[in-house]
Amino acid sequence: RTLETLGDLAGKRVVIRCDFNVPLSDGVITDDGRLRASLPTLNALLDAGARVVAISHLGRPKGEPDPQYSLKPVADRLAELLDRPVAFATDTVGDSARETAASLEDGQIAVLENLRFNAGETAKDDAERGAFAAQLAELADVMVSDGFGVVHRKQASVYDLAQQLPSAAGLLIAKELEVLDTLTESPVRPYTVVLGGSKVSDKLGVIDHLLPRVDRILIGGGMLFTFLAAQGHKVASSLLESDQIETAAGYIRAAEEGGVELVLPTDVVVASKFGADADHVVTAADAIEDSPFGASGLGLDIGPDTAAAFAEAVRGSKTVFWNGPMGVFELEPFAAGTKAVAQALTEVDGLSVVGGGDSAAAVRQLGFDDSAFGHISTGGGASLEFLEGKKLPGLEVLGWA
Ligand code: 3PG
Repeated sequence: RTLETLGDLAGKRVVIRCDFNVPLSDGVITDDGRLRASLPTLNALLDAGARVVAISHLGRPKGEPDPQYSLKPVADRLAELLDRPVAFATDTVGDSARETAASLEDGQIAVLENLRFNAGETAKDDAERGAFAAQLAELADVMVSDGFGVVHRKQASVYDLAQQLPSAAGLLIAKELEVLDTLTESPVRPYTVVLGGSKVSDKLGVIDHLLPRVDRILIGGGMLFTFLAAQGHKVASSLLESDQIETAAGYIRAAEEGGVELVLPTDVVVASKFGADADHVVTAADAIEDSPFGASGLGLDIGPDTAAAFAEAVRGSKTVFWNGPMGVFELEPFAAGTKAVAQALTEVDGLSVVGGGDSAAAVRQLGFDDSAFGHISTGGGASLEFLEGKKLPGLEVLGWA
């Protein structure tokens, strides 16, 4: 169901479930990408004369008010981005929410306080979730679901509310699905997937699902050491998931049998300790323990030869999906691998997709502009679960699965 299915929205009370879960440092938003991604739908509703009540979670508070997770900074930033006033309710379904929602006129917007300040939002019990959703439903005539980052959660505002009111997907969800559908159903080849991040165990589902569908998988980030161990190499004190070594070896074999190139680093940056001031050297990937730091060496980035090879593979592809940093990009000496891959993605003659919260934050922190990429997904877990082929409750309930 798309926005059009909701008919003329002039004068209607519309509750929109967004994903305003942005990173905050001392109350200041450090990456407003998710807010900017919400603007097209919010503007479409406001321009149509709707009375818009925007709802979201932020962080993982424990079902009760917790000031560090207040959405007030989000409401303030949205007012700047929308260039119009944004009212803020200090609760989610209480007096403040009801009064704020009731005071809206056509083309006006309010943000309610964090959904997860209410235990009903994330309750496992269907009735408890349903009761909280019913309180939200009283605030509106129709519901728009546009928080793509949260569609993998069966939570009151995502799932139950969409059953209780006439509901439809917003423009962000529609756009995300169009891109992710292309990645799974009709990628132009060559199709390369770049995977990083710390754990193999977080990526099992996505590797399983994508391995038969892609031409190349490039492995970086902390998870690369488990793959090196699967090839029989020593990794010194680098991150290692011993219980996943067999699984990694299985992927290497499956790739060989399936004619998929599974590319592992040939060199890595090894450091004396975890820190921006650590001594560090480049070593061959099969000789990490031969570095001056011996068995205490820590691999914190892919090496320059690997970065160049990954960049070339990415640039030579027509479709690229990237999830997970190549190294500890937050520390300057270990950011080069992630930077090289990000730069190569901006040069793809085809579709380049950055998926996941960390990767999106990484490209912005490294100074890249969103417009340099084909698409930056607002979903971390959600986009991975979609690419794993899972059914996502927040999409199923809208008839989009
Ligand atoms: C995310 O950041 O991936 C979404 O906002 C979902 O948040 P959650 O993992 O706390 O449900």
